Amino acid sequence: MKLWGGRFTKPTNQLVDEYTASISFDQKLAKYDIQGSLAHVDMLSKCRIISESDAKTIANGLRAVASKIEAGDAVLSEDNEDIHMNVEKLLIDEVGTVGGKLHTGRSRNDQVALDMRLYLREALITISQLLVEVQQALHKQAKANLDTVLPGYTHLQRAQPVLFAHHMMAYVFMFQRDIERLTDSWKRVNKSPLGAGALAGTSFPIDRHYVAEKLHFDGICENSLDAVSDRDFVVEFLSNASLISMHLSRLCEELVQWSSAEFNFIELDDAFSTGSSMMPQKKNPDVAELVRGKTGRVYGHLMGMLTTLKGLPLAYNKDMQEDKEGMFDTVETLKGALALFAPMIETMQVKKEEMYAAVAKDYSNATDLADYLVGKDLPFREAHAVVGQVVLYSIQHNMYLLDLSLEEFQQFSPLIEKDIYDVLAPKAVVNARNVAGGTAKNRVEDQLTAAEGLIQKSLGWIQTHAEIVEGQS
Ligand code: ARG
Repeated sequence: MKLWGGRFTKPTNQLVDEYTASISFDQKLAKYDIQGSLAHVDMLSKCRIISESDAKTIANGLRAVASKIEAGDAVLSEDNEDIHMNVEKLLIDEVGTVGGKLHTGRSRNDQVALDMRLYLREALITISQLLVEVQQALHKQAKANLDTVLPGYTHLQRAQPVLFAHHMMAYVFMFQRDIERLTDSWKRVNKSPLGAGALAGTSFPIDRHYVAEKLHFDGICENSLDAVSDRDFVVEFLSNASLISMHLSRLCEELVQWSSAEFNFIELDDAFSTGSSMMPQKKNPDVAELVRGKTGRVYGHLMGMLTTLKGLPLAYNKDMQEDKEGMFDTVETLKGALALFAPMIETMQVKKEEMYAAVAKDYSNATDLADYLVGKDLPFREAHAVVGQVVLYSIQHNMYLLDLSLEEFQQFSPLIEKDIYDVLAPKAVVNARNVAGGTAKNRVEDQLTAAEGLIQKSLGWIQTHAEIVEGQS
């Protein structure tokens, strides 16, 4: 008979059992479910709702169930629908009918909300840690490439030269915001819904704050209806995960482009590339492509969750069981991508000469010629027009700006003197962008230093919060 079978006159249709069960995926929550139950049973005895000895028997039984599940020795069955009822059933098998006292003053509705929050807390820490590792790999590449110049692009047209270090650091700051979003969401995730019961609270004299403290929550959800129906913390996570995926995907696209023969700016390490089953010469950036591709499923889970929640009346509805697979898959997808990303970035070979050659063979120093004329008091708009003429002349004569003779330059403006050749050299062009946040070498060094501080701060957050999670019963 089902744990809730009392008011039923016949068994559930087999298809209903199969359709409504969540055990195939929510068994991932076993560890958290038992953590929550241990705190709950301790509170029940402290509040004299059950006896101390019953509580001890139940707690020991729960620990035995946890070891069995962990060892793969427990049978988790669809007959018991979900992880909550499977654990309860295993507990009763373990300790007898006293196990039936565990669910006093509690519902699966507050229980599942609790499990989701406990799970997500850990995920926030793990994903932040992996993001920091990606930042560290990018930072390392930046440090090694403070003299590497490549074309910077707008519209995928060569625009102005930048340092490769500058380009790497752009992603460091994107991932920094991603980490900050995750760590900021902690305060909304880390609240205890337990004690909300099915929806209205419970008639037992429970102590919600005691349970919350035991599980290292920052407090309790203030409203029981909200506590059991809120999944906006899941949506928030999926949204933050979507931004992470988007940032990863943009970097992936650059890696794919840069490793093509057309760009030839980097070579990914053999250990992070794959071959073709037919074309022996091929070396493909499959990892970058797949990370880019998996962005689709992460966005999909965000849209799925938002759509599932839309229009749901308070409080719990079975629809909400759909909160799990998307969240689990998103966590696994991010973990997989980020774990590969750090070593892939760290081992990639940066082709400095090829990058430099690309800068030398384009007109990305044209702005500097205009700025030079502005320095000689020509209004910028006029300088822009003059340089446009110079560029057109150069293109027609199959030359780059640095190939022009001084006489040729002076045909366009008598203001141009022979120091122009120093001004238009790629490194000079880069170092001229000596503004806070600019691509001049010393400004990029400032970014490296700033990022080191931010990374240390994240590592500090990760450590204290990992201790919080590990410290719980
Ligand atoms: N398996 C359910 C879920 O994941 C647990 C809560 C079920 N509650 C209920 N009243 N049927 O949402």
